[in-house]
Order: sequence, then C-alpha cells, then structure tokens
Amino acid sequence: MTSTEPETQIKTQTETMTHAPIHLKRLVLTGFMGAGKSTIGRLLAARIGWNFLDLDAHLESRTNATIPQLFEQHGEARFRRLESTALASALGYSNIVLALGGGTPEDLTNRLLLEQTPATFTIFLDAPFPTLFDRCMLQDIARPVLEDPAAAQLRFERRHPLYRRMAGLTIATSNQTPTQTVEALLRALAEKRP
Ligand code: S3P
Repeated sequence: MTSTEPETQIKTQTETMTHAPIHLKRLVLTGFMGAGKSTIGRLLAARIGWNFLDLDAHLESRTNATIPQLFEQHGEARFRRLESTALASALGYSNIVLALGGGTPEDLTNRLLLEQTPATFTIFLDAPFPTLFDRCMLQDIARPVLEDPAAAQLRFERRHPLYRRMAGLTIATSNQTPTQTVEALLRALAEKRP
C-alpha cells in the first residue's frame, strides 16, 4: 500500500527543470483508464519540481484497502463516496501534480471541487477508446470497471464530454510517448499563462 503523502520527485543532474506556472499550485490530470495519468503525472512532476499524488493510491492508503477490495466489499457507490473524500483531501496539498481516477469526473461534487479550488488547473489526456482499452490490457492493474468491455465503452462515451468540459487543456496522447506528451503539455500551458 502506498503512502498518503504526495511522492517527492528525485531529480537527476541531467534532467532540466521547467518552472510551473507561477499562479498555479495544483495540476490535475484527467482522462479514462489507460490515458497515462500516472505515468505522465510522475514525469511532469519531476520536470517542474513538484510532488506527484495518485488519487487511487491516496484512497487506498486512507482506507487501507485496494480498489478491487473496495468495489467487492462495498460496491461502486460507496467507492465513489470514498473517492470524493480522498479528492477533497488531495486538493489540500500545494505544488502537486494530481492524477485522478478515470471515473472521478463523473461525480458533480468532484467536478465542482476541482473547479472551485483556487490555483488548480485540469488537463485532459485524450485518446480513442480502442487505444485506451489495449493499453489497459497490457497493464498489470486490477480495474473492476473494465471487466465488461462493452460497459466500459459506454462509460467512456458518457465521460468523454465531461473530461473535455472540465479541463482547461486537452492533449492528444495516442501518437506520442509520455515524454513527448509532457513537453506538449508544458508548451501549451506556457501559452495559456495570464
Ligand atoms: C476507475 C478508474 C481507476 C480506479 C477505479 C475506477 C474508473 O483509476 O479509480 O478502478 O471508473 O474509470 P485509473 O483511471 O487510474 O485506472
């Protein structure tokens, strides 16, 4: 089980560091399962010298249970309530890159929390469903909501407009490596600076 504290990024001498936008304290990554939120989030955090926090790991640490255990023992509705309280707690940190769970934006309270937390900017990592599904199949992560592929596709279709609407920036990830995505994201963010 991972720690509740955001992960401190250890930088090597060869990595160049870019400054995070001065007016921001939290960068939030959203997108469906397989979008690369955790991989890209860790790289981004290292690049700007911030800490990384994965909402699923934060939730697991707070409940002392794994995501599949939470689904099995309490059902999805209870999982979503726990996810909301974990999100509120995560947004209490500053200078963090926060990777949401794929389903976090489905809840209106969560969207409002993200919108209304000052100095918080959300980025949507976009890719088509087949790409995301294939990526997930290659990962060793237990995801209860992927058990039924047709239902997962419906979830994707329902969530896609929410991801887009809540994000200040959308980055297409299909044809890019995680490092290239981080570079594209930082360039786009620099252009958005007030
Ligand atoms: C979920 C996504 C997962 C995790 C849980 C439910 C979803 O997070 O929160 O299994 O409903 O899309 P990742 O997107 O990090 O895999």
